[in-house]
Amino acid sequence: MKLPILASLSLATVSAALPSLDVERSAATINSTVLACDALKLVFKSQVFFPGSTNYTAENEHFWTPTDYLSPACVFTPKSALDVSAAILTLVGLKAPFAVRGGGHMPIPGYANTIGGVLIALTDLNTIQLSADKSYVSVGPGRRWEEVYAYLEPYGLVVLGGRVGIVGVPGLLLGGGISFYSNQHGFASDNVIAYEVVLATGIIVVATATQYSDLFWALKGGGNSFGIVTRFDLLSYSSPTVCAGITEIPSTEKDLFLSAVANFGQYGSADSKAAVIPSIFMLGSLNETIYTSALFYDGTNCNQPALANFTAIPALENTYGPTTLATYVEGTDALIADGTRQVFRVISSFANAEALSIVHDTFVEEVTANILNVAGIQASVAFQPVTKNFIQQGINKGGNPQGVDITKAPYFWMVENFSWTDPADDAKIAAFAASVTDTIQAKLVAAGQAAQYHYMNDAGLGQEIFQNYGGTNLAKLKAIRAKYDPLKVYTNLMPGGWKVDAA
Ligand SMILES: Cc1cc2nc3c(=O)[nH]c(=O)nc-3n(C[C@H](O)[C@H](O)[C@H](O)COP(=O)(O)OP(=O)(O)OC[C@H]3O[C@@H](n4cnc5c(N)ncnc54)[C@H](O)[C@@H]3O)c2cc1C
Ligand SMILES: *[C@@H]1O[C@H](CO)[C@@H](O)[C@H](O)[C@H]1NC(C)=O
Ligand SMILES: *[C@@H]1O[C@H](CO)[C@@H](O)[C@H](O)[C@H]1NC(C)=O
Ligand SMILES: *[C@@H]1O[C@H](CO)[C@@H](O)[C@H](O)[C@H]1NC(C)=O
Ligand SMILES: *[C@@H]1O[C@H](CO)[C@@H](O)[C@H](O)[C@H]1NC(C)=O
Ligand SMILES: *[C@@H]1O[C@H](CO)[C@@H](O)[C@H](O)[C@H]1NC(C)=O
Repeated sequence: MKLPILASLSLATVSAALPSLDVERSAATINSTVLACDALKLVFKSQVFFPGSTNYTAENEHFWTPTDYLSPACVFTPKSALDVSAAILTLVGLKAPFAVRGGGHMPIPGYANTIGGVLIALTDLNTIQLSADKSYVSVGPGRRWEEVYAYLEPYGLVVLGGRVGIVGVPGLLLGGGISFYSNQHGFASDNVIAYEVVLATGIIVVATATQYSDLFWALKGGGNSFGIVTRFDLLSYSSPTVCAGITEIPSTEKDLFLSAVANFGQYGSADSKAAVIPSIFMLGSLNETIYTSALFYDGTNCNQPALANFTAIPALENTYGPTTLATYVEGTDALIADGTRQVFRVISSFANAEALSIVHDTFVEEVTANILNVAGIQASVAFQPVTKNFIQQGINKGGNPQGVDITKAPYFWMVENFSWTDPADDAKIAAFAASVTDTIQAKLVAAGQAAQYHYMNDAGLGQEIFQNYGGTNLAKLKAIRAKYDPLKVYTNLMPGGWKVDAA
């Protein structure tokens, strides 16, 4: 256990230091956030940024979607866990609200940014170091997955992380994490062996299976209610070359496509090295539905029976072939550029043709009837097939809070994505996303096809997450939260994000 730099900081000590620092600000405008920003600026001169500066703007807009560009009172960019600790003591001492941002990819406004609070931007916590025996890699929360894969590529190693390279490391791991390797090794978080965490007291601890083991368990899917993670140690796996690419199928081949998806959902576990991300993709501008799938195989022989039902369909384009994980994710960056407005929602079902057709038909019908004329609209559903082995791996590795029922696997964990360009359409799309999800959910329930678990990282505002982790796990998460953060710093002073106490 390391001791934080600042043993304590009170409103009085900070206020005493202020007059010399900020002479022209009138007393009337001084509030706890302003005090906290000034106190941090006093200690970390080159790491605190105010509105109007280039660095403030860069950090405030370091998000995937412009709906997350908000208006923090200032931005703090820690360079070490000790910096984070000092900031937490300052913010807690002054009761100043704050937000924490990793990669900035969770597309819910206010979940990783703040209006009027302090934004702790983890950009510069960018450690990346393979262990001497090459069995794990230590990664800072300022990293994106493509940087981790590129670092590991010369060693022929991979870790479990995002299937899209630009996504941030910390948010994905704190919600679980679905990887191309998940059917072999479980959630990405099942493969974390240590977390360095700044607790609400400012104390820095390392949680593993044997020390702070309750906190270790909670961080494998419990989100940001427990502390700020400043380092993740991730198990590495040998995977020097893979087969990967994207196939794009015209709407005329819809039936073959849906049959391939349903079959993969049911029989995909026969070969856990295979992974697919099939999607329905509706483009308003083209008045057209296309079917796409990322296809992946962990191996050198790309001609695999597990993927043959996909590769046999006549395609508009198919890039599936030999590559490396790092090269593949780098190549797909352009397809998922930032800058458009985004809403996600999750749905989950059992993996079979009936559930698939309910989701497909309802989604296509409702999108066509309601939003296909919205400027720049793209509406998609990605079907993530989740096998029994995926869930079994988590159990084998010591368990996680998600509590997914293995007896009912396999599943489809689906994410609906809506992207558009005009802020004037925000409310319309948000309302549509909620209503089409409710409609699909009701039909799945009526057909006995709705599954319980909803994946936090793909969810939209207001969806229930921890409620579906199971009563025992939720109670355990709440107790661990109370033990490590009795004052609810990471629940109330840092209000953004999915909170176990709100469930
Ligand atoms: C294009 C795209 C592709 C995606 N692909 C995948 C995929 O393949 N697999 C998958 O599982 N998910 C995927 N996701 C979902 C992704 O996991 C989430 O969006 C995730 O939250 C992103 O992490 P981040 O660090 O970028 O998020 P951020 O928005 O920075 O943070 C998310 C939440 O975590 C909190 N947080 C961030 N860092 C810390 C920290 N160090 N300590 C404590 N709390 C912290 C934030 O406060 C916030 O509430 C994808 C998302 C997008 C947009
Ligand atoms: C501001 O950002 C630039 C990069 O955009 C960086 O080089 C510089 O160090 C930052 N300034 C400070 C004071 O941190
Ligand atoms: C504190 O000041 C900041 C910066 O001026 C402002 O954005 C914020 O709304 C204020 N907070 C309160 C509670 O008044
Ligand atoms: C979109 O396509 C459908 C048939 O697929 C057609 O009925 C409809 O008229 C088209 N709409 C526009 C605006 O072109
Ligand atoms: C491929 O599709 C056929 C039916 O068309 C099915 O019997 C088979 O199980 C599928 N294979 C896989 C690996 O999904
Ligand atoms: C939709 O969201 C999922 C998961 O979070 C992501 O993997 C996928 O790339 C997104 N699709 C689009 C078209 O943005």
